[in-house]
Order: sequence, then structure tokens, then C-alpha cells
Amino acid sequence: MKPLLRVLMGVWPYRWRVVLGLLCALGVGLSYASGIATLLPVMKIFISTQGVHGWADQAAAESRLHMGLMNLDQSVHAKTLAIIISRAGQSAPAPLTKLSPGDRITRVAVLSAHGATKISSHHWQGMMRILAHVADYTPVQMTIASSSGAVIASPTIKMPGTHWYMWTFVDAISALPQSRWWCLLWVIVLFIVLCVVGSAFRYMQQYISMTLAAKVVINLRRRMHNRILQLPVQYFSAHGTTDLTSRLTQDTNTLTEGLTTLLGKTMLEPMKALAVGIVALLIDWRICVGTMVILPIIGVIIRKFSKRMRRASRKGLEKWSDMMGIISETLLGIRIVKAHNGQGYERRRFTKVNRHLYQQQARLAHYTSLSRPTIETLTIVLGCIPVLIAAKLVLSHSINRDSFIFLLACFAAIFEPLRKLSDVNSKLQQSNASATRIFEIIDEPVEQDGSPPLPSLPRLSKEIAFENISFTYESSKQPVLQEINFTVQKGQTAAIVGANGSGKSTLLSLIPRLLTPTGGRILIDSVDTSKVSLKSLRKHIGLVTQDTILFADTVYNNIAYAAPHADREAVLAASRQSYADEFISQLPEGYNTMVGQSGVRLSGGQRQRIAIARAILRDPAILLLDEAMSQIDADSEQKINLALKEFMRSRTTFVIAHRLSTIAGADLIVCLDYGRVIGLGTHQQLLAECAGYRRLCESQFAAEPATV
Ligand SMILES: Nc1ncnc2c1ncn2[C@@H]1O[C@H](COP(=O)(O)OP(=O)(O)OP(=O)(O)O)[C@@H](O)[C@H]1O
Ligand SMILES: [Mg+2]
Repeated sequence: MKPLLRVLMGVWPYRWRVVLGLLCALGVGLSYASGIATLLPVMKIFISTQGVHGWADQAAAESRLHMGLMNLDQSVHAKTLAIIISRAGQSAPAPLTKLSPGDRITRVAVLSAHGATKISSHHWQGMMRILAHVADYTPVQMTIASSSGAVIASPTIKMPGTHWYMWTFVDAISALPQSRWWCLLWVIVLFIVLCVVGSAFRYMQQYISMTLAAKVVINLRRRMHNRILQLPVQYFSAHGTTDLTSRLTQDTNTLTEGLTTLLGKTMLEPMKALAVGIVALLIDWRICVGTMVILPIIGVIIRKFSKRMRRASRKGLEKWSDMMGIISETLLGIRIVKAHNGQGYERRRFTKVNRHLYQQQARLAHYTSLSRPTIETLTIVLGCIPVLIAAKLVLSHSINRDSFIFLLACFAAIFEPLRKLSDVNSKLQQSNASATRIFEIIDEPVEQDGSPPLPSLPRLSKEIAFENISFTYESSKQPVLQEINFTVQKGQTAAIVGANGSGKSTLLSLIPRLLTPTGGRILIDSVDTSKVSLKSLRKHIGLVTQDTILFADTVYNNIAYAAPHADREAVLAASRQSYADEFISQLPEGYNTMVGQSGVRLSGGQRQRIAIARAILRDPAILLLDEAMSQIDADSEQKINLALKEFMRSRTTFVIAHRLSTIAGADLIVCLDYGRVIGLGTHQQLLAECAGYRRLCESQFAAEPATV
């Protein structure tokens, strides 16, 4: 449950809302219990002959005499009109008068100071009224008979007083009309009022719990998103991106549901059960203590189910991620799927993962469906314990029949909220699994934690040096780069050449530390780039990646992404330099044209020109062009190169290109082969000295003139 507890810590800023929610839950509980309590007067009106007024009289008389009293129709054994003593208390007057359970009071008389009878009654209703209402310390004579009917004593006692709340209760009941019909109407009106009040509280409680859960999860989602933006690039290459998307969406949804339950039902239902429990406790505490035995047994059963549910839930969420991955892959590559008639393959792949998802959901459904009836049945079985205790007490005259029936109603009213709670556990376990997956991301180490803050890197003024650089991807054992040593002066252009997979893009990614070298150092003006803040390092770098990345926004915003505060003139100038302006002005809405998701509405070459404009706008000291012009036609490339010439003069540029025209003009060519530098120098030098470079030239640049 730890991850869920961590989620709950996010509730702390909204603690007053939680308190308000709790108060509303208390309100619901109280109105629920009061609604049940109105059943008692209804039963007194219909089941027992004593009516509500007689009931109040009996309660007051019992409280004053510290005895349990019973009248004819309350006792299962009674055969007389007398009051039967069902329980004799330890305090006066029972011990003084030596009364014991089973004895009957056959006559009650109020005596004057001189011992004369003022009023008397031998009918239980009249006797009860006298015992309830006679003033404190008035002498009252009681005629006591044994169960056979023989008079055994006629003690006179000074009628004791009782608590204020008992008098309040008697006064409240006395205020009710004497007519049973009108009395019932009053009780029903009270019941309706309680229902309305309860509903208002229920609305508030649910609203608070739902909004609170949404707020907490939105904060978590924001934290998770922030963390994702700070994760190292390596994380994405190792884990993919759809799993993250799934965690950001599906897992947080599951968590919202669970949290709503936790802050809603889990607060509300026990409150209802507790409130009715207290009412039942007021009727008879012995039975309620018997009920407590049930709780730990149910707790053990719930624990048994929890672990399995959590595991099934976690696996289900993982399968969900897999499915999202397949969907996004298929949709992104829909042209390839169609062109290669790959629908059958995609269908099979999807069906497989869909089936796996179903299996996990079925497993979760199994535990959820099993847990609910198990807990319910167990509650019923164990609920028989207090019923049996109550029945025993009725038979031994300890409680009367209508109290027994009322207690049964109370047990039903306690059982109902507990029943509703039985599926809460599955929701909580699912949320727990989601919370675990969410915190896995939030706890993932960021690429540079900024503690202690690292110094800023000044703008490049001299050179960039690679010192014994090596690199191995986490997912592979083979080093991709080994012992790379070379230096590029400010203003120079370095071309990285080599066969596919020789490590060119990897080498370029090390400069802005998108990847961290596993060995060696990259020095910018003799400063190790691992010892400066990432933000300051990347500020000086303009990058055009091998796969052009555009966002679903306007052309203008895509260029301005590099420098959001740049003025319009600067954006247009960058666009002219990369020859993007040419085609942008032809677009229907010019710079305001939306490029579509990942720039699908533009051609490959157009996308690259925008990406180059973006890098130029950044005004970088170091420009990294990874096959930036691979899709741009030769004529335009030449124009762009010409335009960039001036721009590159004061900057240091690294280019990866397969066109000889781009490479041959470079000040330094780094020829890579299987991650090692096999040649270093100008085009002419390498042609003369490096066989590998010559081979490369012969195979790759055969169609182009050998020199520029
Ligand atoms: N995320 C990754 N995880 C594991 N290995 C990778 C990863 N990316 C690339 N590699 C491996 O690293 C090697 C170098 O890749 P890199 O992309 O640097 O090559 P390249 O020289 O840029 O090739 P190309 O000319 O095709 O762009 C390749 O053998 C590739 O298999
Ligand atoms: Mg590459």
C-alpha cells in the first residue's frame, strides 16, 4: 500500500477539503442512522401496544429504578398484566428492596407525606406512567409478586431522579400527538427531512471526493510529465515511448478512480455503519461487542485477495502499454502496412496482445468477483453471531422483543454499507498497481539533477576536443564508439563520414550530451562538458537530427521553437537562409499553415528546410547537421550551402552527409569505421592516405565528381 500512501500525501495541501468531506460523510452517517432510528418509534406504534408515549415512560422508569422492566406484550413468557422485572441493577433501589429478575410489580401507589395513598394503579401502563413522571424523592409503594402470583413484598421507596437527557427524551416524545396516526405522520415527515438532509450531504461528499481525486492526480500527472522531460535520452531508447504514454493516461485514470473511491466510499460507508453501530450500541452494548469479532476475520480474507488483485492489475496495465505500442506503430507506419499488405500481420499482432490483455482482465475479474461474494457471505455468516446473542438475551428477558427486531434492522443497516465496501479493495489494489508504475517514473533519475548547481559554459571561443571518447548503448554489449580523439577549431567545419552504423549519429549526440560518453571527455575550450550545466551547454548548440522532428503547429511556430522570444524578422531571415521561405510563401496560409502531426503535410525536403531554419535561428556557436539535407534536391542544397557559408564562418559545424560536395569542402574529415577513427584530415589528405576513405568515396560518391 506504500505507493497509494504516497499518493495520499498529495492530499495534504487540500486537507481542509478532506476535513469538509469527512464532515459531510459524518452528516450522511448521522442522517442515515437517524433514519434507521425513526424505525423504533414506528415499531412502538405498530408492534407494541404501549405506543411511543408508553415507550418513553418505560425508558424513564427503567432509568430511575436502575432496572429492566417489561410489560405483557414485550415478554415472550408473560401471562399477567403486571410489570416484569427483567434485570435488577446493582445500585439502589433494587438491592434495598431485594427485587430480583422474574418478580412482578402488580401495583404502584404514590404516598403522601403521612403515608396515605394519593394515586395508584395496578395496570402496567398506569404503573409505568407513575414510575416515570412522579416527582423526585416522592414515596412510592410497589406491590411485588412472585412468578406464581403470591405477594412477596410491598416496599416503599423514595423515587430517584435521572439524567437530564432522559428527561429531554421524555419531553420530546411527550410533544408528539397522542393519536397513533398523527404520531406516525410526524415520524414520516421527520424521516423525509432526514433523507433530504442526507442527500445534500451525500452530494457534497461525492463532489468533494471526485474533485479532490482529480486534483491530486492532475498534480501527479504534471510531476510525471516534468520528470519525463528530464529523463535522459537513453531511457527512451531503452523503454520506448508508448509505455510512458500509457502510464501518463491509463494508469492515472485508474488511479483517479481508486482515489475517488478511497476519498468517497471508503470514508462514507464506514461512517454510515459506525453511526448505526452507535445507535445499536445504545440499545444493547453486549451484542455490538459480539459484532466486533467479525471485523478482524474479514480483514484477513481481504488481505488474501489484495496481493493477487494487485499483481493481476499490474500485468493488465503492462499489457495495455504493449497494446498502445502496437497501435501507435501501426498507425505511424500505415503507409508501409498498406503498401506491403501487412494488414494480416498487424491483425495477428494486435489480436495476440489484445488476448493477453483480456487474460489479465479476466484474472482481475475473477479475483474481484470472487472477493465480493466471499466477503458478503462471510459477513452474513458471521453476522449470525450477534443475532444469536440477541436472541439469547430476548429469551432470558434481558431485552424486549421490539428492541430485538430493531437491532435486527440495525444489523441490516450496518451490513449494507459494509457490503458496498466489499468491492473497494479491488479498486484500491488496482490504484496501488497504477501508483507503483507512476512513481517508477517520478523516481527515475534525471539526466542531471542540478545539485550542486554546475557552472555555465561560456560561448565557444577556441576549440572542441574529443579525448579518448568511447560509448556503449545500455541495451547492447558492443561498444559503438572507441578511442575517438580529434580537435575541431572554432569556425571550422568537421565532416563525419563512415558507413551506415559506424557511429556518426551517436558521436554527434555526445556533443549536446543527449548521450553521455561511457569513457573519455569532450572539452569545449578545455572545459569538460560533463562539468557544466546542461542548459548552458545546449544553449550554444543548434541541432538538425537525422529524422526531422516537427510539431503539430504552424510553420512559424515550428521555426520559432528554437528561440521563442525571437522577433518575426529574425524568424523570416532564418527561413530565407535555409531556403524554406521559398516554399512557405507558396503555402495557402504562408507561415500560419499548420504542418500536421509530425509535419505530415509537408514533403521530406520541406521539413528538413524548416529544421535547418530552426537551428539557424538559435544562433548557435556549434551547429550539428546530421544528414540535414539528405532529402533536399542537389540544386537547393547548393544554394543552402552557399547561404550557410557565411553563417558557418563564425561557428563550429559538424556535418554528417553522404554528398561529396558537402564533405569535400570541410576543414576536417573524420572517417569512422565500426566506431573507430580510421582517417583524420582534409579530403585531399585522406584520399592520399586513407584506404578506407578512398573506398568510401569510390562506393558512395561514385556518381559525383571526385573533387569540388
Ligand atoms: N538506441 C540504440 N540502442 C542500441 N544500439 C543502438 C542504438 N542506436 C544505435 N545503435 C547502434 O549503434 C551503432 C551506430 O549507430 P549510429 O546511428 O550512430 O550510426 P550512423 O553512423 O549514424 O549510421 P547511419 O549512417 O545509418 O545514420 C549501430 O550499429 C546501431 O545498431
Ligand atoms: Mg546516423
